[in-house]
Amino acid sequence: MLISVILAAGEGTRMKSKLPKVVHKICGKSMVNYVVDAAKNSNCESNVVIVGHGKDKVINSIEDKSTKFETQPIGENMPYGTGYAVMQAREHIKEDDQVIVLTGDTPLITGETLTNLYNHHKSGGYKATVLTADFENPTGYGRIIRDSLENVTKIVEQKDATKEQRLIKEINSGIYCFEGKYLLDILDRLNNDNVQNEYYITDAIEILNNDKEKVGGYKLNDNTEIMGVNSRVQLAQAEKVMRNRINLKFMKEGVTFIDPENTYIEKNVSIGRDTIIYPGVVIEGDSKVGEDCIIDSNSKIQNSTIKNEVHVKSSTIIESFIDDFTKVGPYAYLRPNSHIGKNVKIGDFVEVKNSIIGNNSKASHLAYIGDAEVGKNVNIGCGVVFVNYDGKNKHKTIVKDNAFIGSNSNLVAPVIVNEKGYIAAGSTITKEVNKGDLSIARARQVNKEGWVEKNNK
Ligand code: UD1
Ligand code: CA
Repeated sequence: MLISVILAAGEGTRMKSKLPKVVHKICGKSMVNYVVDAAKNSNCESNVVIVGHGKDKVINSIEDKSTKFETQPIGENMPYGTGYAVMQAREHIKEDDQVIVLTGDTPLITGETLTNLYNHHKSGGYKATVLTADFENPTGYGRIIRDSLENVTKIVEQKDATKEQRLIKEINSGIYCFEGKYLLDILDRLNNDNVQNEYYITDAIEILNNDKEKVGGYKLNDNTEIMGVNSRVQLAQAEKVMRNRINLKFMKEGVTFIDPENTYIEKNVSIGRDTIIYPGVVIEGDSKVGEDCIIDSNSKIQNSTIKNEVHVKSSTIIESFIDDFTKVGPYAYLRPNSHIGKNVKIGDFVEVKNSIIGNNSKASHLAYIGDAEVGKNVNIGCGVVFVNYDGKNKHKTIVKDNAFIGSNSNLVAPVIVNEKGYIAAGSTITKEVNKGDLSIARARQVNKEGWVEKNNK
């Protein structure tokens, strides 16, 4: 059986964070999540994540529910290191398994590369195979030492390396494939005799060589895949690579990006064909955008569903639903639980919260619609406020089909405006308006003849 062991117990001190390192997100998903996905995509049948520092946060950040966990004991006098982390997985490893060992801080690794590593490992008959790459700047990584026949003989950590060894550009990705039997044997033989007093899994390579067992090295062409994230700078670099991958995938599927370098789409988002995305757009979480939509610059869409031919103009949409042909914005704000029907217009500076708005209705400018049920063909004039809050509780407003709410009206909830109810501009409505009635709720206008001249104004 092919299985994976993913090391994610470290603190990640170089991140200078309150969170464990592997929980930091790139393009909306924790780093360790991507590593689990890659292992699954390479057909690993069992995936064990080694957790320790901030273990609950690490466990909660992993979406795949079939993932298994083992806890590495963490404490001042406890052993430490990648080798010690792998030891925690012992019970999951059988002698005839092939074991891919990965670290939770290399989120750019793909299932395809792991499959290639595994195939190289199997076809070469190796007991262990290291995934390597040539890095222009290898600082911080373990260096690959090869003999005159190009066989990998050992891995030396930066901190343990001699001056000459530090000049080597071929680095250890921290990703390996081991034959189970040999890995189990080696785990009993690791020691912490090094500068950091840690158990290094990398020592496995030298041990196998001393045993005269075959060790392989599989060198990658695309270095970005094994970029380790140890700092915020590397986090931003990894985010950029992932962002490009995501946007490239959408372009291949028929989505237009005016400027893919400056468009921020998270990993779990879906976007339909012939949708056009302008620069500065952010689409997050489990958002779904349909076909033939236009999403203008500086729109932010979070955990929302947008159907087809919708035009979003520089607006913020959070946890909401927008049906076909609807136009939103510019500068509209749809807060959670807004359900907007077909062919609706939500115009400039309109805020909607926890409300349903029926097909063909319009709120073209400067309105607040909160905790409401608005029917079809309703017109909500400029400056209308749904007064939903009495200082303690929220109340509901119902506006039925074909009603007309004149500009600058207040609908003081709880209140109902029935079908074809017609509210005069500037009204403050506190009582139910019956079907087809006109309601005027404002002081009558009084004109005082010649008043200005008489009062010397
Ligand atoms: C490791 C490798 C190095 C390689 C680099 C690639 C070793 C000794 N070194 O170094 O050769 O070039 O990765 O990115 O293996 N972890 C645990 N428990 C521990 C210690 C670490 O689970 O006790 C986990 C961490 O959470 C992390 C991963 O192992 O996800 C790697 O640890 P890290 O400290 O980042 O190793 P590097 O110094 O980068
Ligand atoms: Ca690392």
